[in-house]
Amino acid sequence: MKTPRFIQLHDLAPHALAQEAAAGLSAASAYVSPKFFYDLLGSRLFDAITELDAYYPTRTEAAIHTEHGPSIARAVLAHTGRTPVLVDLGAGSCAKAARLFGALAPRRYVAVDISVDFLRTSMLALQREHPATDMVGVGLDFSAQLQLPQTLLDGPALLFYPGSSIGNFAPGDALRLLREAREAAGGGALLIGVDLLKRKALLEAAYDDDLGVTAAFNLNLLKHLNRLLGTDFDVRGWQHVALFDERESRIEMHLRARQAVSVRWRDVERRFAAGEQIHTEYSYKWSADGFTELLRQAGWRDMQCWTDAQGWFGVFVAAA
Ligand code: AVJ
Repeated sequence: MKTPRFIQLHDLAPHALAQEAAAGLSAASAYVSPKFFYDLLGSRLFDAITELDAYYPTRTEAAIHTEHGPSIARAVLAHTGRTPVLVDLGAGSCAKAARLFGALAPRRYVAVDISVDFLRTSMLALQREHPATDMVGVGLDFSAQLQLPQTLLDGPALLFYPGSSIGNFAPGDALRLLREAREAAGGGALLIGVDLLKRKALLEAAYDDDLGVTAAFNLNLLKHLNRLLGTDFDVRGWQHVALFDERESRIEMHLRARQAVSVRWRDVERRFAAGEQIHTEYSYKWSADGFTELLRQAGWRDMQCWTDAQGWFGVFVAAA
Protein backbone atom coordinates (compact mmCIF):
# COMPACT_ATOMS: atom_id res chain seq x y z
CA MET A 1 0.00 0.00 0.00
CA LYS A 2 1.18 3.52 -0.81
CA THR A 3 1.16 6.19 1.86
CA PRO A 4 0.05 9.83 1.44
CA ARG A 5 2.69 12.56 1.29
CA PHE A 6 2.07 16.01 2.79
CA ILE A 7 3.58 19.36 1.77
CA GLN A 8 2.82 22.71 3.44
CA LEU A 9 3.49 25.50 0.90
CA HIS A 10 1.66 28.43 2.46
CA ASP A 11 2.99 30.32 5.48
CA LEU A 12 0.58 29.34 8.23
CA ALA A 13 2.46 31.20 10.95
CA PRO A 14 -0.26 32.49 13.30
CA HIS A 15 1.29 35.96 13.31
CA ALA A 16 0.96 36.23 9.50
CA LEU A 17 -2.75 35.36 9.71
CA ALA A 18 -3.23 37.66 12.71
CA GLN A 19 -1.53 40.47 10.76
CA GLU A 20 -3.90 39.93 7.84
CA ALA A 21 -6.97 39.98 10.09
CA ALA A 22 -5.72 43.09 11.92
CA ALA A 23 -5.22 44.96 8.63
CA GLY A 24 -8.86 44.30 7.64
CA LEU A 25 -10.21 45.35 11.04
CA SER A 26 -8.22 48.57 10.86
CA ALA A 27 -9.43 49.53 7.38
CA ALA A 28 -11.84 52.47 7.03
CA SER A 29 -14.53 49.99 5.94
CA ALA A 30 -13.68 47.04 8.15
CA TYR A 31 -13.53 43.59 6.55
CA VAL A 32 -12.30 40.10 7.41
CA SER A 33 -11.66 37.42 4.77
CA PRO A 34 -14.17 34.50 4.77
CA LYS A 35 -11.26 32.12 5.26
CA PHE A 36 -11.39 33.12 8.95
CA PHE A 37 -14.78 31.40 9.32
CA TYR A 38 -13.17 27.99 9.30
CA ASP A 39 -11.76 27.20 12.71
CA LEU A 40 -12.89 23.84 14.15
CA LEU A 41 -16.31 25.10 15.29
CA GLY A 42 -16.71 27.19 12.12
CA SER A 43 -16.15 24.13 9.94
CA ARG A 44 -18.75 22.22 11.96
CA LEU A 45 -21.21 25.11 11.72
CA PHE A 46 -20.72 25.14 7.95
CA ASP A 47 -21.45 21.39 7.86
CA ALA A 48 -24.64 22.15 9.83
CA ILE A 49 -25.56 24.85 7.28
CA THR A 50 -25.38 22.25 4.50
CA GLU A 51 -28.07 20.23 6.35
CA LEU A 52 -30.56 23.13 6.47
CA ASP A 53 -33.67 23.08 4.26
CA ALA A 54 -32.99 26.70 3.31
CA TYR A 55 -29.40 26.04 2.20
CA TYR A 56 -30.03 24.30 -1.14
CA PRO A 57 -26.54 24.41 -2.82
CA THR A 58 -24.87 21.35 -1.25
CA ARG A 59 -27.73 18.92 -1.73
CA THR A 60 -28.59 20.27 -5.18
CA GLU A 61 -25.00 19.82 -6.39
CA ALA A 62 -24.94 16.30 -4.91
CA ALA A 63 -28.20 15.44 -6.69
CA ILE A 64 -26.79 16.64 -10.03
CA HIS A 65 -23.76 14.36 -9.54
CA THR A 66 -25.99 11.44 -8.59
CA GLU A 67 -28.27 11.90 -11.58
CA HIS A 68 -25.64 12.76 -14.21
CA GLY A 69 -22.51 11.13 -12.76
CA PRO A 70 -21.84 8.86 -15.75
CA SER A 71 -22.25 11.67 -18.34
CA ILE A 72 -20.09 14.02 -16.28
CA ALA A 73 -17.34 11.38 -15.94
CA ARG A 74 -17.48 10.66 -19.68
CA ALA A 75 -17.12 14.37 -20.49
CA VAL A 76 -14.16 14.69 -18.11
CA LEU A 77 -12.33 11.61 -19.43
CA ALA A 78 -12.87 12.72 -23.04
CA HIS A 79 -10.72 15.77 -22.17
CA THR A 80 -8.14 14.23 -19.83
CA GLY A 81 -7.75 10.72 -21.20
CA ARG A 82 -7.70 7.71 -18.85
CA THR A 83 -6.35 7.87 -15.29
CA PRO A 84 -5.97 11.66 -14.90
CA VAL A 85 -4.28 13.43 -12.02
CA LEU A 86 -7.16 14.62 -9.78
CA VAL A 87 -6.53 18.01 -8.16
CA ASP A 88 -9.09 18.78 -5.44
CA LEU A 89 -9.25 22.49 -4.54
CA GLY A 90 -10.38 23.10 -0.94
CA ALA A 91 -10.50 19.35 -0.33
CA GLY A 92 -11.18 19.34 3.45
CA SER A 93 -12.77 15.97 4.21
CA CYS A 94 -12.06 14.75 0.63
CA ALA A 95 -15.64 13.37 0.62
CA LYS A 96 -16.73 14.91 -2.69
CA ALA A 97 -13.60 13.79 -4.55
CA ALA A 98 -13.86 10.31 -3.04
CA ARG A 99 -17.15 9.86 -4.93
CA LEU A 100 -15.32 10.44 -8.24
CA PHE A 101 -12.70 7.71 -7.74
CA GLY A 102 -14.89 4.90 -9.07
CA ALA A 103 -15.65 6.59 -12.39
CA LEU A 104 -12.33 8.42 -12.95
CA ALA A 105 -9.72 6.02 -11.50
CA PRO A 106 -7.25 8.87 -10.94
CA ARG A 107 -3.59 7.86 -11.03
CA ARG A 108 -2.72 10.54 -8.49
CA TYR A 109 -4.88 12.48 -6.03
CA VAL A 110 -3.63 15.96 -5.10
CA ALA A 111 -5.74 17.40 -2.28
CA VAL A 112 -5.24 21.13 -1.69
CA ASP A 113 -6.40 22.98 1.42
CA ILE A 114 -5.17 25.95 3.41
CA SER A 115 -3.68 23.63 6.04
CA VAL A 116 -2.36 20.08 5.47
CA ASP A 117 -3.62 19.31 8.96
CA PHE A 118 -7.21 19.39 7.63
CA LEU A 119 -6.20 16.67 5.15
CA ARG A 120 -4.23 14.13 7.18
CA THR A 121 -7.00 11.99 8.69
CA SER A 122 -9.25 12.02 5.63
CA MET A 123 -6.40 11.15 3.22
CA LEU A 124 -5.14 8.29 5.36
CA ALA A 125 -8.65 6.80 5.27
CA LEU A 126 -8.99 7.37 1.51
CA GLN A 127 -5.59 5.75 0.88
CA ARG A 128 -6.83 2.60 2.61
CA GLU A 129 -9.74 2.48 0.11
CA HIS A 130 -7.40 3.10 -2.84
CA PRO A 131 -4.05 1.57 -1.89
CA ALA A 132 -2.43 1.93 -5.36
CA THR A 133 -3.26 5.62 -5.93
CA ASP A 134 -0.48 8.15 -5.38
CA MET A 135 -1.81 10.66 -2.80
CA VAL A 136 -0.40 14.08 -1.97
CA GLY A 137 -1.82 16.61 0.49
CA VAL A 138 -0.80 20.20 -0.24
CA GLY A 139 -1.21 23.05 2.25
CA LEU A 140 -1.75 26.14 0.11
CA ASP A 141 -3.87 29.30 0.33
CA PHE A 142 -4.78 29.48 -3.37
CA SER A 143 -7.07 32.51 -2.79
CA ALA A 144 -4.00 34.64 -3.57
CA GLN A 145 -2.36 32.41 -6.19
CA LEU A 146 -2.76 28.83 -7.38
CA GLN A 147 0.67 27.46 -8.12
CA LEU A 148 1.35 23.77 -7.54
CA PRO A 149 4.69 21.94 -7.73
CA GLN A 150 5.25 20.86 -11.38
CA THR A 151 6.40 17.41 -10.23
CA LEU A 152 2.81 16.69 -9.16
CA LEU A 153 1.40 17.76 -12.54
CA ASP A 154 3.17 15.44 -14.97
CA GLY A 155 0.17 14.80 -17.23
CA PRO A 156 -3.41 15.90 -17.95
CA ALA A 157 -5.16 16.80 -14.72
CA LEU A 158 -8.77 17.28 -13.68
CA LEU A 159 -9.11 20.45 -11.61
CA PHE A 160 -12.06 19.82 -9.28
CA TYR A 161 -13.58 22.84 -7.50
CA PRO A 162 -17.00 21.93 -6.09
CA GLY A 163 -19.39 23.64 -3.68
CA SER A 164 -19.60 27.03 -5.41
CA SER A 165 -16.59 28.22 -3.45
CA ILE A 166 -15.73 30.17 -6.61
CA GLY A 167 -18.59 32.45 -5.44
CA ASN A 168 -16.31 33.90 -2.76
CA PHE A 169 -14.25 35.54 -5.52
CA ALA A 170 -15.15 38.81 -7.24
CA PRO A 171 -15.35 38.30 -11.03
CA GLY A 172 -11.81 39.60 -11.70
CA ASP A 173 -10.29 37.32 -9.06
CA ALA A 174 -12.41 34.38 -10.23
CA LEU A 175 -11.04 34.94 -13.74
CA ARG A 176 -7.47 34.89 -12.43
CA LEU A 177 -8.05 31.69 -10.44
CA LEU A 178 -9.70 29.98 -13.42
CA ARG A 179 -6.72 30.96 -15.63
CA GLU A 180 -4.29 29.54 -13.08
CA ALA A 181 -6.39 26.38 -12.85
CA ARG A 182 -6.16 26.03 -16.64
CA GLU A 183 -2.36 26.34 -16.50
CA ALA A 184 -2.28 23.61 -13.84
CA ALA A 185 -4.57 21.29 -15.85
CA GLY A 186 -1.83 20.53 -18.41
CA GLY A 187 -4.26 20.00 -21.27
CA GLY A 188 -6.82 18.29 -19.01
CA ALA A 189 -10.18 19.45 -17.70
CA LEU A 190 -12.14 21.42 -15.12
CA LEU A 191 -15.10 20.19 -13.05
CA ILE A 192 -16.63 23.02 -11.07
CA GLY A 193 -19.85 23.60 -9.10
CA VAL A 194 -21.47 27.03 -9.31
CA ASP A 195 -24.51 28.42 -7.51
CA LEU A 196 -26.82 30.06 -10.06
CA LEU A 197 -28.80 33.27 -9.94
CA LYS A 198 -32.32 32.88 -8.59
CA ARG A 199 -35.05 34.79 -6.74
CA LYS A 200 -33.76 37.17 -4.09
CA ALA A 201 -36.05 35.70 -1.38
CA LEU A 202 -34.66 32.18 -1.91
CA LEU A 203 -31.08 33.47 -1.83
CA GLU A 204 -31.57 35.54 1.30
CA ALA A 205 -33.31 32.66 3.11
CA ALA A 206 -30.30 30.43 2.34
CA TYR A 207 -27.96 32.93 4.02
CA ASP A 208 -30.23 33.97 6.90
CA ASP A 209 -31.88 30.75 8.04
CA ASP A 210 -34.62 30.67 10.69
CA LEU A 211 -32.59 28.53 13.12
CA GLY A 212 -29.79 31.08 13.18
CA VAL A 213 -27.12 28.59 12.13
CA THR A 214 -25.69 30.96 9.51
CA ALA A 215 -25.81 33.78 12.08
CA ALA A 216 -23.78 31.60 14.47
CA PHE A 217 -21.35 30.75 11.62
CA ASN A 218 -20.86 34.46 10.88
CA LEU A 219 -20.57 35.51 14.56
CA ASN A 220 -18.15 32.68 15.34
CA LEU A 221 -15.62 34.53 13.19
CA LEU A 222 -15.36 37.10 16.02
CA LYS A 223 -14.54 34.34 18.54
CA HIS A 224 -11.91 33.01 16.14
CA LEU A 225 -10.37 36.51 15.97
CA ASN A 226 -10.40 36.77 19.77
CA ARG A 227 -8.20 33.66 19.87
CA LEU A 228 -6.06 34.40 16.81
CA LEU A 229 -5.46 38.10 17.26
CA GLY A 230 -6.42 38.70 20.90
CA THR A 231 -9.35 41.01 20.12
CA ASP A 232 -12.02 41.41 22.82
CA PHE A 233 -15.16 41.11 20.69
CA ASP A 234 -18.36 40.42 22.63
CA VAL A 235 -20.45 38.43 20.16
CA ARG A 236 -23.69 39.60 21.79
CA GLY A 237 -22.98 43.14 20.62
CA TRP A 238 -23.09 42.13 16.95
CA GLN A 239 -25.81 41.15 14.51
CA HIS A 240 -25.69 38.87 11.46
CA VAL A 241 -26.63 40.60 8.20
CA ALA A 242 -27.05 38.81 4.84
CA LEU A 243 -28.48 40.67 1.84
CA PHE A 244 -28.58 39.97 -1.88
CA ASP A 245 -27.27 42.85 -4.00
CA GLU A 246 -28.98 42.40 -7.37
CA ARG A 247 -26.76 44.91 -9.17
CA GLU A 248 -23.60 43.08 -8.14
CA SER A 249 -25.28 39.64 -8.21
CA ARG A 250 -23.88 38.71 -4.83
CA ILE A 251 -24.89 37.84 -1.32
CA GLU A 252 -23.08 40.10 1.10
CA MET A 253 -22.59 39.02 4.68
CA HIS A 254 -21.74 41.52 7.36
CA LEU A 255 -21.57 41.79 11.15
CA ARG A 256 -23.33 44.94 12.38
CA ALA A 257 -22.54 46.61 15.70
CA ARG A 258 -25.76 46.78 17.77
CA GLN A 259 -24.42 49.87 19.56
CA ALA A 260 -21.22 51.92 19.60
CA VAL A 261 -18.36 49.70 20.71
CA SER A 262 -14.60 49.82 21.04
CA VAL A 263 -12.58 46.74 20.13
CA ARG A 264 -9.04 46.35 21.47
CA TRP A 265 -6.11 44.13 20.56
CA ARG A 266 -2.41 44.53 21.40
CA ASP A 267 -1.94 48.30 21.58
CA VAL A 268 -4.67 49.04 19.03
CA GLU A 269 -8.20 50.31 19.59
CA ARG A 270 -10.83 50.34 16.83
CA ARG A 271 -14.11 52.15 17.47
CA PHE A 272 -17.31 51.09 15.72
CA ALA A 273 -20.34 53.38 15.63
CA ALA A 274 -23.80 51.89 16.23
CA GLY A 275 -24.82 50.18 12.97
CA GLU A 276 -21.29 50.11 11.56
CA GLN A 277 -20.46 46.86 9.79
CA ILE A 278 -17.60 44.44 9.28
CA HIS A 279 -17.82 42.80 5.87
CA THR A 280 -17.18 39.05 6.12
CA GLU A 281 -18.19 37.41 2.84
CA TYR A 282 -19.31 37.77 -0.76
CA SER A 283 -21.09 34.86 -2.41
CA TYR A 284 -21.48 35.68 -6.11
CA LYS A 285 -24.31 34.10 -8.09
CA TRP A 286 -23.81 33.49 -11.80
CA SER A 287 -26.13 32.79 -14.71
CA ALA A 288 -25.18 29.64 -16.65
CA ASP A 289 -24.39 31.82 -19.68
CA GLY A 290 -22.40 34.31 -17.60
CA PHE A 291 -20.26 31.60 -16.06
CA THR A 292 -19.70 29.91 -19.43
CA GLU A 293 -18.45 33.25 -20.73
CA LEU A 294 -16.14 33.64 -17.71
CA LEU A 295 -14.68 30.19 -18.43
CA ARG A 296 -14.17 31.16 -22.07
CA GLN A 297 -12.33 34.33 -21.04
CA ALA A 298 -10.10 32.22 -18.79
CA GLY A 299 -9.10 30.12 -21.80
CA TRP A 300 -11.28 27.07 -21.17
CA ARG A 301 -13.21 25.54 -24.08
CA ASP A 302 -15.91 22.93 -24.87
CA MET A 303 -18.03 24.00 -21.88
CA GLN A 304 -20.86 21.71 -20.77
CA CYS A 305 -23.26 22.40 -17.92
CA TRP A 306 -25.61 20.13 -15.97
CA THR A 307 -28.30 21.63 -13.74
CA ASP A 308 -31.17 20.49 -11.54
CA ALA A 309 -34.80 20.74 -12.69
CA GLN A 310 -35.17 24.19 -11.07
CA GLY A 311 -31.92 25.49 -12.56
CA TRP A 312 -30.60 26.41 -9.11
CA PHE A 313 -27.07 25.02 -9.39
CA GLY A 314 -24.69 24.34 -12.26
CA VAL A 315 -22.01 21.66 -12.61
CA PHE A 316 -19.65 22.66 -15.42
CA VAL A 317 -17.07 20.63 -17.31
CA ALA A 318 -14.57 22.34 -19.61
CA ALA A 319 -11.44 21.39 -21.54
CA ALA A 320 -8.09 23.13 -20.98
C1 AVJ B 1 -18.54 27.65 1.14
C2 AVJ B 1 -18.36 29.77 0.07
C3 AVJ B 1 -19.70 28.06 -0.91
O1 AVJ B 1 -21.01 31.00 -0.19
O2 AVJ B 1 -22.58 29.54 0.08
C4 AVJ B 1 -22.59 29.44 3.46
C5 AVJ B 1 -20.22 29.71 2.46
N1 AVJ B 1 -21.59 31.29 3.84
N2 AVJ B 1 -23.40 30.23 4.20
C6 AVJ B 1 -21.44 29.95 0.29
C7 AVJ B 1 -21.45 30.14 3.23
C8 AVJ B 1 -22.79 31.34 4.43
C9 AVJ B 1 -20.51 29.07 1.14
N3 AVJ B 1 -19.28 28.66 0.39
